[in-house]
Amino acid sequence: MPRVLITRELPREALAVAHQRFDVDLPPTDRPLSRGEFMSRLRDKAGLVCLLTDTIDEEILNAAPSLKVVSNVAVGYNNIDVAACTRRGVVVTNTPGVLTETTADFTWALLLAVARRVVEGDRYVRSGQFKEWQLLFLLGTDVHGKTLGILGFGRIGQAVARRARGFGMRLLYYDPQRVDRVVEDELGARYVDKAALLRESDFLTIHALLTPETHHLIGANELRAMKPTAFLINAARGPIVHEEALVQALREGWIAGAGLDVYEEEPTVHPGLLEAKNAVLAPHIASASRETRTKMALMAVENCLAVLEGRIPPNPVNPEVLKT
Ligand code: GLV
Repeated sequence: MPRVLITRELPREALAVAHQRFDVDLPPTDRPLSRGEFMSRLRDKAGLVCLLTDTIDEEILNAAPSLKVVSNVAVGYNNIDVAACTRRGVVVTNTPGVLTETTADFTWALLLAVARRVVEGDRYVRSGQFKEWQLLFLLGTDVHGKTLGILGFGRIGQAVARRARGFGMRLLYYDPQRVDRVVEDELGARYVDKAALLRESDFLTIHALLTPETHHLIGANELRAMKPTAFLINAARGPIVHEEALVQALREGWIAGAGLDVYEEEPTVHPGLLEAKNAVLAPHIASASRETRTKMALMAVENCLAVLEGRIPPNPVNPEVLKT
């Protein structure tokens, strides 16, 4: 059986499949591996099933001469140097599709929580301060009827858009690739440029991959261009937003608030965000439902298995490797 390193704990169902088909190396503790340990465990492996906490770069690949596949248990793959894998003929795979709806659900959880001050309310009740009802207390912002701006209109952006209909929102989107007009009409979404999106959105939500082009896509200039009453939601990748600028924006009221699931230097969170009352902060859990994490892990195991059996994997990121 092919030797496969699974860097971290996976849902039981996925591990069961892996154990049937691979000679599995699973480190005993569910922690990110040190580089040294990562390299020594990978040395004799044909397959790698990894998480977004694992960095796969040139040095790691150099230590793994037999590696054929890097299977990420995530849709985003910015933790992997795909070009370096491609140069070595190593297939990279990800887990698109299965987490779309779950991630869209959570985006709305963040949006609603920050607009309606749910977390502040929870803290208030738990700390025993709820002594009397007041008319003018914890006033939030209406969501229904507002303008939702979606930056990045792929699978997840569109799933977020579908949910906006129930809130009677006006929908704008920007993506370097405009979608089919039929899809726009179905979703009731209007294509605008980035400047209009920033200017007009009451809620701006990011659904893009992290690439050199999207790194710091939202910085000081963009935050200043937003309405002072607007909210920023990010359940994509932290470095798409310039965190230092966001802290200043929240502190100085350039925008009204933010709902964040991701950070620039995870798991470190900027101390300015920790202090910001107008931010709701989640620990990168947008796809974290029991069902979806299980599907993601099963998909990653299947991607790995397909490559090692000489089949075309369902979700290649660098399909050009398969043609050679
Ligand atoms: C999670 O962040 C993912 O990219 O799947």
